[in-house]
Amino acid sequence: MRQVTVVEHLLLSQKERPMASGRFTRLLTELILSAKIIGREVSKAGLLDVLGATGEVNVQGEIVQKLDDFSNQVIIRRMERAGVLCAMVSEENADFIEIPRQFPVGDYILIFDPLDGSANIDANVSIGTIFSIYRRTSYTQQAVTLDEILQKGAMQVAAGYIIYGSSTMMVYTAGNGVHGFTLDPSVGEFLLSHPNIQIPEQGRIYSVNEGYWSYWDEPTRRIVNHFKSDENALGRPYSLRYIGSLVSDFHRNLIYGGIFMYPADHRDPRKPKGKLRLMCEANPMAMIVEQAGGLAVDGTRRILDIEPEELHQRVPLFVGSKKDVEVVLQYYREAGDDRP
Ligand code: AHG
Ligand code: MN
Ligand code: MN
Repeated sequence: MRQVTVVEHLLLSQKERPMASGRFTRLLTELILSAKIIGREVSKAGLLDVLGATGEVNVQGEIVQKLDDFSNQVIIRRMERAGVLCAMVSEENADFIEIPRQFPVGDYILIFDPLDGSANIDANVSIGTIFSIYRRTSYTQQAVTLDEILQKGAMQVAAGYIIYGSSTMMVYTAGNGVHGFTLDPSVGEFLLSHPNIQIPEQGRIYSVNEGYWSYWDEPTRRIVNHFKSDENALGRPYSLRYIGSLVSDFHRNLIYGGIFMYPADHRDPRKPKGKLRLMCEANPMAMIVEQAGGLAVDGTRRILDIEPEELHQRVPLFVGSKKDVEVVLQYYREAGDDRP
């Protein structure tokens, strides 16, 4: 069987689509290389810890960095030179990142979470990189402004993630279905392994950090109870699966069917809108899930329709199989004004 790489797949699918500029291919190629470099470091994280303990200096003579920071630097340094971006937004940087003057600019905007689920690294649990790509709405030579970056998720031209798991996989959409590629380490390429991923319409898994039960409002508790009871569409409790790594939890539910929830914490002053970030985390997952036939909402609104007001805005997130997310919408709708 002929093996198809990400770029080959992109070129084939772009035959029918106008986005076929070499620039997008270039963007993706650089991103893939960044992911391979991050994946390499992630896979030897435990080893680096051991080596780093001797003097905190690695073989290149650099101070061993936390993997979050390492991943962030890899993406920024590679992508700023790619000549296709006008700005980047990283979960790790408070402000947006401009392209230094010495490098050529393009009209794409890259928003990313360099390492998601990083609290899990030391336990060898799957983690990932999430990305979201926009286009500048007006092409000028002027420096990009914050307003141009704060676009709603529906404006994304592509989104995806790389999961560093039992194998390394890249899942992405450019608005033409969701496709998964598995890294074949022997050839160093991501090869098409999951064409046209569709999330089951009805799930059987719910994923939520139920430790926060006492912080939730009544409608949220009713929703979680619904999935645990035998009075739901399955007629039996869903299985609970929660890794605490959005990429991994989302990926599993995408393949098996289910719902991931990170509701608002009404008694945690740090999380009145939940924990996850609209632009770095929720929007890319929302684009992917919709392209796969699922839904993503904040409880009442479609995630992709939310107009962002700030770069690191947080949002409650309910994402997954269509029928499961519809249950969430229905419960919050019924609760109406009773919600605090
Ligand atoms: P990050 O590692 O990028 O900061 O994100 C962690 C996020 C996400 O991956 C996960 O879904 C969530 O944090 C888990 O949070 P809780 O520990 O509060 O459940
Ligand atoms: Mn994250
Ligand atoms: Mn992160």
